[in-house]
Amino acid sequence: MKVIVTENFNESCKLVAERIATIVKEKPTAKLGLATGGTCEDIYKNLIDIYKKENLDFSKVHTVNLDEYIGLDPENELSYRYYMNNHLFNHINIDKANTYVAGGIGDVDKIVEEFRSKVSENGAPDFQLLGIGVSGHIGFNEAGDKLHSLAHLEDLQKSTIKANSRYFEDESMVPRKAITMGVGEICSAKEIYLVATGESKKNAIEGLIMNPYVTTQNPSTILKLHTNAVVVIDKALADLVGYKY
Ligand code: PGA
Repeated sequence: MKVIVTENFNESCKLVAERIATIVKEKPTAKLGLATGGTCEDIYKNLIDIYKKENLDFSKVHTVNLDEYIGLDPENELSYRYYMNNHLFNHINIDKANTYVAGGIGDVDKIVEEFRSKVSENGAPDFQLLGIGVSGHIGFNEAGDKLHSLAHLEDLQKSTIKANSRYFEDESMVPRKAITMGVGEICSAKEIYLVATGESKKNAIEGLIMNPYVTTQNPSTILKLHTNAVVVIDKALADLVGYKY
């Protein structure tokens, strides 16, 4: 696992957007694993800028997203399908039929089955983008006694509900369950970039980059087993955890 320390969060977003753009240029049929959350919004803004400036072609790109809230339909502005359309897909020449965000409503067993087959369909993703939760979750794989390798339903932890409540009217409105790609599926991607910024991510990033241990209590630590995983943090966060660069 490699760690890159940037001057600031803007630089992190630029760097990751440029990496995604390079992958798409080199392989126009690339399969991208995408993520949502506050951290990714600026990465997508940068990617849209590159798309406009360089006529980047997404017409043959396929995407599969990490997760979705259970109980929110795709039209709901707080669903991750809506987020992806709004922050990226509506602004680039991607064919939405080639984008997959698991459904948040309907027959859950069927959705899980469909999700698992979409992740492996036509081979593993070429790239996976990740944020990180305050307890180290990746996708919605929460800290606990065990981790699931495949897509599954997950009960959201109190810390996740609290962190994500900023988008909802109040905390009680945040869905309690989500469907998420499993950690084995996340690690099947050929290349992974995890991006973090801010004080709230201190403990999670400390567990990820400041010791050699892998633990289910910090799901992101599974990335230490991946041969092509990159953690992108800014100087402020590196200083907070005492990482020397
Ligand atoms: P955030 O979420 O980017 O909104 O902090 C990241 C995550 O929960 O994975």
